[in-house]
Amino acid sequence: MVKDFAGQHLLSVQGLSREAVETVFSVADLMVPFAERRMVTRVLEGAILGNMFFEPSTRTRVSFGCAFNLLGGEVRETIGVESSSLAKGESLEDTARVLSGYSDVIVMRHPEGGAVDRFASASRVPVLNGGDGAREHPTQALLDLYTIRRERAALGLGLDGLRIALMGDLRYGRAVHSLVQILALYPAIEFHLISPPELALPEAYEDALRAGGHQVHRHHALASGLQAADIVYVTRTQEERFPSPEEAARYRGLFRLNQEIYTAHCAPNTVIMHPLPRDSRAGAQELDADLDAHPALAIFRQADNGVLIRMALFALCLDVVGALEKDVRPVRWYTGGRR
Ligand code: CP
Repeated sequence: MVKDFAGQHLLSVQGLSREAVETVFSVADLMVPFAERRMVTRVLEGAILGNMFFEPSTRTRVSFGCAFNLLGGEVRETIGVESSSLAKGESLEDTARVLSGYSDVIVMRHPEGGAVDRFASASRVPVLNGGDGAREHPTQALLDLYTIRRERAALGLGLDGLRIALMGDLRYGRAVHSLVQILALYPAIEFHLISPPELALPEAYEDALRAGGHQVHRHHALASGLQAADIVYVTRTQEERFPSPEEAARYRGLFRLNQEIYTAHCAPNTVIMHPLPRDSRAGAQELDADLDAHPALAIFRQADNGVLIRMALFALCLDVVGALEKDVRPVRWYTGGRR
């Protein structure tokens, strides 16, 4: 997707300019009254979203669906390869040709890197990447950066010169791969990459950050990486991407952020983020629930922001931003429990 969003795919954060990102954020701000159930719009009435998730998801799938519904559109879903005709040998390209006849826009998640691009190449309608293998998760990166911007603004700060620690599985974590690229649009970002050596950020991403003039520091221990950060972005070990469960088990629980470690090593007000899901099983717990009441824990605000960003992307992609104000009314149902 480029500056002119209408009718464009969003397959990667590559090609997004800082101006384009700021446009998405401005439109996301317009969506707050709708996402907070104060106002209703029907600007996408009659439009259909094909929500195609060929890999497990809670947040991305449901928030894309909610975002489309909140704009007045309808959602049709396929969940899992086994319940689609991909299981009968249909190609991604044929699936795209067919589904794009039924939909105005398609969101797709697939376990293979590059599969969403293949699908999009045969689609007659815009395709938004909901996560493809270990490669990219562009809408997650947009909502992450939007969250960082809001959390920093609440402290009276901006993004330039931000110091961020990214910890955990930086090799297979697609959210991190997209986030580092989009953060690099802002000047003088300081990246602290905390992971076991085997799960380090792939070199191509690191090289691009350095080439863009950013500072990159690798850490194989938590303490040194955390202490210089304004934001700590925790990630789950992506066990489903490892060659074997035995290999994944070697890294389970290796890096954990909990109240004790936060207090010992993080500066006061260090914002805690995680794309979620976090792995709450015994032995994993990369982000401990003992931080849940901490005011700097932004993970649920981050998840809420996903609806705003996805509403903004639909409004831009289907070119209805200018019509948003025209057909607005207050909600008619009880909303007190949300506030
Ligand atoms: N962050 C994210 O992609 O979550 P889901 O896998 O639940 O969609």
